[in-house]
Amino acid sequence: MWNFDEVINRENSSCIKYDFREEVFGRADVIPMWVADMDFRTPTFITEALSARLEHEILGYSYRPDGYFSSLTGWIAARHGWDVRREWIEFSPGVVPALNMCTLAYTGPGDEIIIQPPVYTPFHGAVLDHGRKLVHNNLLETDNGWVMDREGLQRLITPATKMLILSNPHNPVGRAWTREELIELAEICHDKKIVILSDEIHSDLILPGSRHIPLASVSEKAAAITVTCMAPSKTFNLAGLSTSSMIIPDPLLMEKYRRTLVGLHLHLGNIFGNVASEAAYTHGQEWLDELMQYVQGNVDLVVDFCHEHLPQIKPVRPEATYMIWLDCRAMGLSGQQLQQFFVDKAGVGMNEGSRFGPGGEGFMRMNLACPRSVVKKALRQIESAINS
Ligand SMILES: Cc1ncc(COP(=O)(O)O)c(C=O)c1O
Repeated sequence: MWNFDEVINRENSSCIKYDFREEVFGRADVIPMWVADMDFRTPTFITEALSARLEHEILGYSYRPDGYFSSLTGWIAARHGWDVRREWIEFSPGVVPALNMCTLAYTGPGDEIIIQPPVYTPFHGAVLDHGRKLVHNNLLETDNGWVMDREGLQRLITPATKMLILSNPHNPVGRAWTREELIELAEICHDKKIVILSDEIHSDLILPGSRHIPLASVSEKAAAITVTCMAPSKTFNLAGLSTSSMIIPDPLLMEKYRRTLVGLHLHLGNIFGNVASEAAYTHGQEWLDELMQYVQGNVDLVVDFCHEHLPQIKPVRPEATYMIWLDCRAMGLSGQQLQQFFVDKAGVGMNEGSRFGPGGEGFMRMNLACPRSVVKKALRQIESAINS
């Protein structure tokens, strides 16, 4: 019913993905397959709700109404089978701001925070920018895909370890962590009194055959130590509206988060974020199912194309997110050379793997949230560059 094939010109719309290409890649004409931002038209159930709110022509201070909370709890129950109570919910103007606020709320200068690279670049900054010690528990690449290193984690924990930041599902390797993996992680961290900040911003972007398990839902121990970030911003491409939610079942962890949020005066949020979030979570089920079917088609296209025409590139089939992690190590190039090759020779702008930390070198992250014709064009350009 929804048309994801439509190509919409986003140039000169103050859009980072298109209008910053010159700054980021040195060329304004690369096919933009980098930042996690989708090229699909915002669904009408969201734009109509925004227009309706504009009919009241006063935009003063506002609060999040009951419908904001009930649409979110209804969505999480329906999609992820997790019953969230309203008093567990707090606001954040974004997930990256939340990562930084949680560092301030739950750790002190010099404390250790564990992340599991290769992982979303701002995880690194959320630790280092506040004078905390960054500890890497590198993911392991196995024959069955990327997994967390349980033994490594146990070895790395010290009395100074106060927090672990989890990407669930994991950006960029595309894993949707299983219940067993999450139970095990929560056991280890609970025993050592480590807070887990579970960034679940990609939780709705689950590809057919996989499932999202909210970390806090797997056990009482998990609920006691988990601070979850969720948002409509990736799911419905609403990042420009700066609206996300924190779900914190433990009252003491909630109090510490809230004190930080209110202390920075970031708790008010904004009218359009509230309206769009409620509309998305109330009406978005079908649209999202169709979106993920479409993304799956793009994933299949990349996997099949590389298999047939680009044996040097081995895509890691994602279980979640609209990104695909391309193993380009057989091309024998450094990270910087890979980036140069894809930009200068192929005209395709992606995220270079080493930017995600150890384990990322030799990989590229490609954003597939765009019309299929764009993916085809990018693949053909890469093929001609490799063969020329
Ligand atoms: C894992 C992860 N967390 C957070 C974000 C961004 O969050 P926000 O725009 O709400 O700050 C992204 C965006 O790509 C992401 O991949």
